[in-house]
Amino acid sequence: MQSARDDGTVQKSYFNLKQDSARITGTIRVTQFFYTISESSGDSNNFRIAATMKDGKSDRSVLYEGRLVGDELHLATRRRPDAPLTEMVAHRAPAGEGVMPAKLALPTLHKVRDNGLARTPPMGWNSWNNFKGRVNDAVVREIADAMVSSGMKDAGYVYINIDDTWEGERDRNGNIQSNKKFPDMKDLADYVHSKGLKLGIYSSPGPNTCAGYEGTYGHEEQDAKTFAAWGIDYLKYDWCGARNLYTDEEMQPVYQKMGDALLASGRPIVYSLCQYGRNDVWKWGPEVGGNLWRTTGDIRDAWDSMTKIGFSQNELALWASPGHWNDPDMLEVGNGGMTETEYKTHMSLWSLLAAPLLAGNDIRNMTPRIRDILTNREVIAVDQDKAGKQGKRIKKSGDQEIWVRDLGAGVRAVGLFNLSDKDAQVSFDWAEIGIKDSLKQMKIRDLWQLNDLAASQANYSATVPAHGVVLLRVQSR
Ligand code: GLA
Repeated sequence: MQSARDDGTVQKSYFNLKQDSARITGTIRVTQFFYTISESSGDSNNFRIAATMKDGKSDRSVLYEGRLVGDELHLATRRRPDAPLTEMVAHRAPAGEGVMPAKLALPTLHKVRDNGLARTPPMGWNSWNNFKGRVNDAVVREIADAMVSSGMKDAGYVYINIDDTWEGERDRNGNIQSNKKFPDMKDLADYVHSKGLKLGIYSSPGPNTCAGYEGTYGHEEQDAKTFAAWGIDYLKYDWCGARNLYTDEEMQPVYQKMGDALLASGRPIVYSLCQYGRNDVWKWGPEVGGNLWRTTGDIRDAWDSMTKIGFSQNELALWASPGHWNDPDMLEVGNGGMTETEYKTHMSLWSLLAAPLLAGNDIRNMTPRIRDILTNREVIAVDQDKAGKQGKRIKKSGDQEIWVRDLGAGVRAVGLFNLSDKDAQVSFDWAEIGIKDSLKQMKIRDLWQLNDLAASQANYSATVPAHGVVLLRVQSR
């Protein structure tokens, strides 16, 4: 079954069904997923099939109803259990088309040399959170312009990262091409570079990306060379279709292969691993040449999603260091699903976590208040601290949490978070964050109010708004 996308590519799904007496067997390939039929009922005039696949530790399944009409398969499915039926018609494809490729042999493990990049967490912008499939050449150029005119570039944001849906078909020689939305990647990279910015791109170690586009599978060195020739400076490499071929335990050699290929390309390319934090990626991310690795599933522009991800990162602090970062996913600041207070919480927490700061909003059209949140230099300085130590939770009582990041030389960033729906008083003793000096020698600065505070007693207390934060920089000598 095919449906044409307006970027000139065709989304193909394959139903490879066989009827033998009372059973229908076979496989279903849809976007990045490859299912095997596990149950069936009915006959070719009216059948129901259930198909499943293994995805790491869990199982995925789909259900279809259908019938054979001449040489066409008429099918219907629900994208979610509560969604209306989606109907489609599949036509006979040449035998062998759409079969899952054979699993490639995996390289033996070795340590990929450090590329020397991302000594502080990468800063930039990524297309996915706001634009999804609507990203194109014009958007990327305008975002590059806006990076400069809004002051984001001056605040440290450098990478303009194109996420999924840029991919076209491979040419006769197997070279990946961009689709109609991106007429000339090299020219686009030249434009972005002319603004003093860098360009990032996206692919998957699987045959298909998460949105069902062409992946890098079996073309690792070739794609790395193509990206380098285009002038690409950053690659997000997303597990997606690789889940059909490999177990989670096989991720390390799969990611190593691309780490090697990027180094061999000769161009400095930041390597961002995206496999949703499976298989303790933080333990082997640096071994495969990774500069950052996602630690969770996808963020949504909602308070529950952001807090669930952000406040669950405490145990991972150990694994962050210059060149190697935990990535709790891209920023949602400015996308409209949270309040400005909540976005300040998001930005503060990500900075305490030494997380990559990849804006995910339409920075061409952001309000001055959103711009001020994203470009607060004193908050960014916390994120970009050269020592690269990730902050940790030092105290939690009910819905209030205090997180501290050691910035070296007696300086600490302290975040007082209030996750409840009501304003709350949050307090701590200076000694609790390791400060024993005389109060007179302390310098305290509120990084959102942008004012200096005095320490008058052995503890500090502030009223923190509902869903809000007070972020301090404390210097003790
Ligand atoms: C996955 C990733 C997202 C985004 C999409 C694109 O879901 O986790 O960040 O890249 O794929 O299809």
